[in-house]
Amino acid sequence: MAASVSASCLISLSSLAVVLVALASAASAQLSSTFYDRSCPNALSTIRSGVNSAVRQEPRVGASLLRLHFHDCFVRGCDASLLLNDTSGEQSQGPNLTLNPRGFVVVNSIKAQVESVCPGIVSCADILAVAARDGVVSLGGPSWTVLLGRRDSTASFPGQTSDPPPPTSSLRQLLSAYNKKNLNPTDMVALSGAHTIGQAQCSSFNDHIYNDTNINSAFAASLRANCPRAGSTALAPLDTTTPNAFDNAYYTNLLSQKGLLHSDQELFNNGSTDSTVRSFASQHVGLQQRLRHGHGQDGQPQPPDRNPGADQAQLLEGQLVNY
Ligand code: HEM
Repeated sequence: MAASVSASCLISLSSLAVVLVALASAASAQLSSTFYDRSCPNALSTIRSGVNSAVRQEPRVGASLLRLHFHDCFVRGCDASLLLNDTSGEQSQGPNLTLNPRGFVVVNSIKAQVESVCPGIVSCADILAVAARDGVVSLGGPSWTVLLGRRDSTASFPGQTSDPPPPTSSLRQLLSAYNKKNLNPTDMVALSGAHTIGQAQCSSFNDHIYNDTNINSAFAASLRANCPRAGSTALAPLDTTTPNAFDNAYYTNLLSQKGLLHSDQELFNNGSTDSTVRSFASQHVGLQQRLRHGHGQDGQPQPPDRNPGADQAQLLEGQLVNY
């Protein structure tokens, strides 16, 4: 059985991109940044060098790793259930269909490298959490301490993959989706800043560039050149200004109506989150501080009814083979 509480994933999420979410639970104390210090002292350096080398080859991978971790956490906790290669599992559903397959390949490769230095020790959920952090750092973003010791899920939860909101969402729908995870509007705006890196397929923003009026007309026209009205798999950067840098350009873009997704621009569209976007756009340092405040707010350990990392690691290793 998997964790039944979404709160654990959200707390971990907050460390990843993020947000000041009060850490009330004592359970977090069971995770530790030194979890592998004795059992696998080279775990973190192995993950870091795997991420760095993948990002050097293709900067987008840093973004893809961050999104993988987010999508894993949003469904019943940061338990690597997203990695389970079940044809009717989480990977086959809703927003997960647009996850960059390259991200899975990189995770699988890093997993193999970690296994070669410490067989059966490090959980996939921890690898994903550390890789997401290292991906952000490799693109110039802030670092944070990742607490470790998560256990991996043995089950996938396709029924809950609709939890991450679609890019067509209104502000009301976005606020509601985050509220269900106990995240407030400021948290939501902070987390959305992850769209300062990475790319989206035309089919994720075609409605916005053809039908919306709250978009910079030159920006929309330039996107239409590569994105047909009916949509396609052509890619465009989520942050049109600095696509491969983890900075606050995502927010400044919103001020000039250059959000790529409808849901991005909803955060600055004469609504209740406008002032937060303005504030983040004007305070680069503020954003960095918010990210750093994620320290110590990492994922909760999963309940002890799962196999510990060793078994899970082997299990999951075999389940990424299709990528
Ligand atoms: C507010 C709700 C959100 C919506 C509606 C949303 C939606 C999307 C969509 C549609 C894409 C592009 C998918 C594609 O077409 O290939 C995307 C990409 C991405 N998202 Fe989000 N997202 C949200 C929040 C987040 C959060 C909270 C994070 C991380 C903390 C995140 C991280 C990313 C990253 C890094 C990418 C680029 C991935 C890549 O290039 O491989 N997103 N998101």
